Amino acid sequence: MVNVFSIPAFSLAGVSGFLVPALSIASLATFLAVLILIAERYLMDYGEVDLQVNDKTFKVKGGNTLLNTLKEQKVFIPSACGGRATCAYCKVKALSGFPEILPTETPLLTKEEIKDNVRLSCQIKVKTASAIQIPEELFNIREYTATCESIVDLTYDIRLFRFQLIEPPHIEYKAGQYIQFQSPEYGDVSESVYRAYSMCGDCKDKDQIELMVRRVPEGIATTYMFDHLRVGEQVVFTGPFGDFYLRDTDRRMICVAGGSGMAPIRSIMLDMTSEQIEKRKPIFFFGARAKRDLFMVDEWREMEERNKGLTFVPALSSPEPDDDWDGETGRVTEVIPRYVEDLSDCEGYLCGSPGLLNACVDLLISLGIPEERIYYDKFE
Ligand SMILES: Cc1cc2nc3c(=O)[nH]c(=O)nc-3n(C[C@H](O)[C@H](O)[C@H](O)COP(=O)(O)OP(=O)(O)OC[C@H]3O[C@@H](n4cnc5c(N)ncnc54)[C@H](O)[C@@H]3O)c2cc1C
Ligand code: FES
Repeated sequence: MVNVFSIPAFSLAGVSGFLVPALSIASLATFLAVLILIAERYLMDYGEVDLQVNDKTFKVKGGNTLLNTLKEQKVFIPSACGGRATCAYCKVKALSGFPEILPTETPLLTKEEIKDNVRLSCQIKVKTASAIQIPEELFNIREYTATCESIVDLTYDIRLFRFQLIEPPHIEYKAGQYIQFQSPEYGDVSESVYRAYSMCGDCKDKDQIELMVRRVPEGIATTYMFDHLRVGEQVVFTGPFGDFYLRDTDRRMICVAGGSGMAPIRSIMLDMTSEQIEKRKPIFFFGARAKRDLFMVDEWREMEERNKGLTFVPALSSPEPDDDWDGETGRVTEVIPRYVEDLSDCEGYLCGSPGLLNACVDLLISLGIPEERIYYDKFE
């Protein structure tokens, strides 16, 4: 074995004499890794294997990720990041048939989950007979086809999409839940990906869904939805997913959102308004930079008329000189304490970017809401 510490130090020839073989070994290792990946993708045939999911057994083609294998069997696991190992939504309990935990999984699993054999289904592959356990309600998730019925600009970078369901023709969901929209291959994008979007319409309209989507520069799904999807075209989505919905209590509600994070709060509030739930006295703080980032203000004012318990507080953090704004200014974290003091009897419902959410969760805790009563969806 070569002892690297015994290599004579720092002559140029010595360093290059060490570096060249080291680099060659690294290149060889990379080359072999790529070769193994290619071989696995195109040459390895694992044949048909049994995949047991709770008490059901599926005959599946081996070699694909567990997430995609399940999708082919019409079993839909939440997967907001599209398999990039960043969202941690796709956890399942592995009972048998999977190798050791992968380095891509460990950052997203707690010690208890690792001990309990929880795995990321987007990372592990089904190669032999395997068994997993999933929450029984995931069998109720369906795949839907729908027609894009309308596309409306809400701001320069947020649009409202309405989809009329084709098959199945109805969807049952709780206000606040989300679907996974399938962005198909288009232009130079040669992969079809799934992305999470919260439904923002009234959950009693069971034959349609509405989505409020912000354009992400270079984003795969949002570029498709903004630049390629046309009214009249057909789309595919799965759902409903998620546990961001109204808890059945009498507590006051503090709601906070920014940008398209308004989506699930709107759905919850439309439902509460039509159910005439006023006793919860929700205050909705909506943060935007300038007036051009504000939208649906008239709709919220009209909803305040119909739901006497509701207060809508839009706040601009950086109003433009010609915005002519006489409403609240400052970040929502500065505005909330102007309206409320002790929140110990409240529940928090938050939605939007990770930066906004982290700051607001800390604030609400400092104002007295116990952490377990703060519900949120982070749009990562
Ligand atoms: C539960 C939930 C609900 C959501 N609801 C909504 C909603 O109602 N409305 C809404 O607008 N959004 C919502 N989102 C966010 C949404 O799911 C998408 O993340 C967002 O629309 C971006 O998708 P995209 O495909 O356009 O961008 P992506 O292609 O995912 O790209 C996002 C960013 O990552 C970068 N990127 C792309 N590929 C990679 C890579 N391989 N590695 C690293 N970075 C990369 C891109 O450059 C871009 O900046 C929700 C998210 C969650 C988790
Ligand atoms: S799909 Fe996001 S971590 Fe697996």
